[in-house]
Amino acid sequence: MTRAESLAAAYEQVAAATDHLDILINNAGILPGHPGSGIEDTQETQKLGQLRYDDAMQVFGTNAVGPLLVTQQFLPLLKAGHKSRVVSLSSGLGSLELKASGSHYHYSASKAAMNMYMRTLAAEAGHYGIISIMVDPGWMRTDMGGTGAALPAADSARGIIRLTDQLHAEENGSFVTWQGKPVAW
Ligand SMILES: NC(=O)c1ccc[n+]([C@@H]2O[C@H](COP(=O)([O-])OP(=O)(O)OC[C@H]3O[C@@H](n4cnc5c(N)ncnc54)[C@H](OP(=O)(O)O)[C@@H]3O)[C@@H](O)[C@H]2O)c1
Repeated sequence: MTRAESLAAAYEQVAAATDHLDILINNAGILPGHPGSGIEDTQETQKLGQLRYDDAMQVFGTNAVGPLLVTQQFLPLLKAGHKSRVVSLSSGLGSLELKASGSHYHYSASKAAMNMYMRTLAAEAGHYGIISIMVDPGWMRTDMGGTGAALPAADSARGIIRLTDQLHAEENGSFVTWQGKPVAW
């Protein structure tokens, strides 16, 4: 997500197998303190007094800039697709309007930034007939969500696939839950 040469290699691999893409799902993301984030001690690094520039850049690189650059990389194949769709995994924690807790500084801000990047992209790529949406998958039982999460990941994934199948052009640029309900920006 964050290395240009890795993105280019991924594109070459896919382009060798197909001449078009109908769906791109930007799923990868990191939450500080969780497996794969490279940022330890969740509680401490997410609080005022402990916030660090490098952590912020790492989270923004993967969660905000990553989906934008992945989509840019795959644009030629998406342009050649049939009713192409881009689905980017956001979070309710990225909603400015719903934000009420003093926690998850970098994660929340990175998802809000991703929403803006992908809404901007939606406005431009919409001219090529590409429909791009941001989806809050709910609190899922994954490495990130943990075992106490409310929702099996498969239920959320099925919901996201269902709404992706039924997308219309007028939904381009929208922010919705895995069940297709609008989320406040
Ligand atoms: N789980 C939740 O409750 C929840 C709630 C709201 C939103 N979300 C969002 O939903 C999406 C999926 O989350 P999840 O719960 O499935 O998270 P997860 O269990 O932590 O899995 C994240 C995935 O992202 C990949 N990844 C991380 N950094 C990457 C990078 N720089 N390049 C490429 N791949 C990278 C990881 O790959 P490796 O395994 O190889 O590291 C892993 O497969 C994320 O965008 C997350 O923010 C999740």
